[in-house]
Amino acid sequence: MPLLRDYIAEHERATNYGGEAVRALDRGEHGQAHELLVAMAEELRSHWLGEENGLFAVMGTDDLYAQHIAPLVQEHRELDALLESVDLSDPDDRDRVRKAVFDLHEHIAKEEDGLFPASLTALDGDEWDAAMSGWREAHPGKSMIGRG
Ligand SMILES: [Fe+2]
Ligand SMILES: [Fe+2]
Repeated sequence: MPLLRDYIAEHERATNYGGEAVRALDRGEHGQAHELLVAMAEELRSHWLGEENGLFAVMGTDDLYAQHIAPLVQEHRELDALLESVDLSDPDDRDRVRKAVFDLHEHIAKEEDGLFPASLTALDGDEWDAAMSGWREAHPGKSMIGRG
C-alpha cells in the first residue's frame, strides 16, 4: 500500500535524524544536534499532519481504533512541544531528547505493528482515497512513493 510505505519511509528518516542527534549530543556537539533535531521536527510535523488528517481520521471513525489513535496523537503533541521548547544547553533537556528519541521508536512500533496492519483489512477503497488525500494535503507538491 503506497500510503503505508510513505509513512514508514517518513518514520525511517525521522528516527535516523533522532539517532544522529543523540550521537551528536554524546559527542558534545550541541550545534549539530540542534540542526538534526530541526530536521527531525520538520520531517515529523508533515508526517503527523499526514497521519492525523489521513489514516487516523479515517480509522478514527471506528470506536475501537479511536481508542488506539487518541494516545498516538497525544504522543505527537508531546514530542512537538519538546522539540519546540528544547534547550540543549540544559542537561535535563538533553536527557528529555534522549528519552523522546527512544520513545519515538515505541510510538512507531505501535503504528507499524498495530494500526497499519489493521488498516489493510479495515479500510475500503473510498477510505484509502480519503486517507491518501489527507497525506497529500500534508505534503504539498510531493508525490507518493511509487505513484509518480
Ligand atoms: Fe504517529
Ligand atoms: Fe507515524
